[in-house]
Amino acid sequence: MVNVDVAASLLHDTVGNEPTVVATAPGRVNLIGEHTDYNDGFVLPMAIPFGTAVAARPRADRRVTAMSERFGRTAFDLDTAPTSTQGWGRYLHGMAWALAEHGIDVGGFDATVVSDIPGSSLSSSAALEMSIGTALCALADTPLPPAVLARLGQRVEHEVIGVPVGIMDQLISAAGVAGSASLIDCRSLEIRPVALPHSARVVVLDTGTRRGLVDSEYASRRSACERVAAAIGVPALRDASLADLERVDVDATDRRRARHVITENQRTLDAAACAEAGDVVDLGRLMDASHESLHEDFEVTGPAPDAAVRLARQVDGCLGARMTGAGFAGAAVALVERDAAEAFVATMAMQYEAPPEQPSTETPAFHVVWPVRGAHVVQRTA
Ligand code: GLA
Repeated sequence: MVNVDVAASLLHDTVGNEPTVVATAPGRVNLIGEHTDYNDGFVLPMAIPFGTAVAARPRADRRVTAMSERFGRTAFDLDTAPTSTQGWGRYLHGMAWALAEHGIDVGGFDATVVSDIPGSSLSSSAALEMSIGTALCALADTPLPPAVLARLGQRVEHEVIGVPVGIMDQLISAAGVAGSASLIDCRSLEIRPVALPHSARVVVLDTGTRRGLVDSEYASRRSACERVAAAIGVPALRDASLADLERVDVDATDRRRARHVITENQRTLDAAACAEAGDVVDLGRLMDASHESLHEDFEVTGPAPDAAVRLARQVDGCLGARMTGAGFAGAAVALVERDAAEAFVATMAMQYEAPPEQPSTETPAFHVVWPVRGAHVVQRTA
């Protein structure tokens, strides 16, 4: 759990004052439903007990100064374009801009940011956006519904950061439910809490790897999906069936991309039903099948997540394992029998070896996680 007191005391050290607001937002792990969100499909993520905390205090002018424990200082003027801010501060500037565009009264502020979200593919960017958004809404005395805040975070990704992400990461970080994963319909944004079966545990397999070029690969996958939807004549692949796909004349690679999305949507709905029925064996099988489809058809796994998944499946008690998030590097997720979870984590830590073609830049780490609540204000003084 991110230590919110650190954010507050860091602000005190940096600007010599107590925060007016401290807010926090979690990272996420996606259990199944990968690369389906921007196809208006279904996802089954959960917020995890790793997050980002923001401590903030208003200023009398239009200036923002901020300090991140991990990434250092940033400063900008609210009357400049958010794209003129470099580094991590662009997320902060982007959220301030998007909130102002939405009509929220955003003035200058000092802030500090701390995070304990490990590695990549656990949505540290979305947690940063949602924690800042929650803090700035609290400073302005105008809380926003989670889905609205999530849309603003997505707008920042599209228009300020330049990545055409879907809505999953921001929405689960904003709206996560303690104790439950969330089945999200990414077209209507309807969220159904899905309690995790008591007989299993979720384990994050963080391979300690990151890959560049993910953004352009991500955008090209999204375009492929849109081309096939247009060829079939539907608004999004959510509306297409495998029979529709067979009928159209599309590029062979595009066809495999679409096949992943269409089958993954069904697997996600089936997985939610399995979880609700307590059927952890079939839930694990669906996770395995998702990974195969992401490997063969969507081609977004990477050597490190593949290696973690392969090893996990050989360890006692593993019910299923798959990559999680955008892919190419980063984390995987395993479903493990409850009583085997502790030994599973110890064995993974002992036996995981990074493949030579994708060495770890940070120490690989394995965590049993449970679903936590989404972004919220932790502390507030008048
Ligand atoms: C990233 C994006 C999400 C989603 C996943 C893949 O995490 O931010 O919107 O598309 O990749 O499922």
